[in-house]
Amino acid sequence: MPARLVEAAIFSDDVGMAADGKERWFRRGINLGNALDTGRDGEPRLRLEERYFDDLRDVGFDTVRLPVRWSAHADESAPFALDPTFFERVDWAIGNALRRDLTVVLNVHHYHELQDAPHEHEARFVALWQQIAARYVGHSRRLCFELLNEPRSAMTAQLWNRLLLKGLAAVRESHPDRMVIVGPARMNDIDALPELELPSDDHVIATVHYYAPLEFTHQGAPWTAGAEQWLGTTWGADSDRDAVRQDLTRAATWAHDHGRHMFVGEFGTYSKADLASRLRWTTFVRSEAERLGLSWCYWDFGTDFGVFDPQHNTWRVPLREALLP
Ligand code: BGC
Repeated sequence: MPARLVEAAIFSDDVGMAADGKERWFRRGINLGNALDTGRDGEPRLRLEERYFDDLRDVGFDTVRLPVRWSAHADESAPFALDPTFFERVDWAIGNALRRDLTVVLNVHHYHELQDAPHEHEARFVALWQQIAARYVGHSRRLCFELLNEPRSAMTAQLWNRLLLKGLAAVRESHPDRMVIVGPARMNDIDALPELELPSDDHVIATVHYYAPLEFTHQGAPWTAGAEQWLGTTWGADSDRDAVRQDLTRAATWAHDHGRHMFVGEFGTYSKADLASRLRWTTFVRSEAERLGLSWCYWDFGTDFGVFDPQHNTWRVPLREALLP
């Protein structure tokens, strides 16, 4: 499919993207991961600071994705009230981003109990979205909601297609035309897109996550089974590039065929991979996404995949330049 056709079909004013490529406000993003997505007692691995928002805007990011573990800060029984102090922490982050004209993708992250027992947690999931939506009525249209990070486990495509309608309805009660982002089951895998059923709502766009090949991007990552054995995997052969091109083209084709914008909401490499390969992969995935008209959001800002080193207060410049040449 010619790239221009893809662009015309999926760039729209809804995502701040005119077909001529001007006035884009939802294009190049960064995940503020491991900050608001830890548990109630868990120390965040990244402490957000106000100056980060200046830095992010100044180097050229236009979007921040805020992964939030709401489920660790809400009552277990109806009406599942969210902790007001935690809400204020999220307000602070959203306010800092919006004041600097950064687009915000606010999600529900790490709701493991829902993924393991979808039926038992359905009412709580909907109640979380009702509270989140009510809180941010009247906010800039640059604030977007992403219903659920990486549906997986017992949350099959079939259950997710049903539940996403309920989550969306909860948002739509107070936000008739706010941008809502929804990804497919199987951890937002590109190959699960054919199973995703989105309602006819002009302000719903799709998202996928991209970490292929996992043996390369997640080598040595302690949370990934077998990852120790992958240490030393490099990336950059012609066949590696062909695989990425084919994967992202499938995402772009789905987006085109379904008339939706596509957001690559996470992609990145764990720090144990060799830097030269990481730079090649990051440059290639990012530039292919852009060629195909997909907006992107790197995982992550300041922890183990990070482009920024908070301990030394410095950018990892080559990695940042792979994203923002
Ligand atoms: C998870 C992170 C993880 C990253 C890459 C994210 O969705 O929240 O904990 O580091 O994916 O695996």
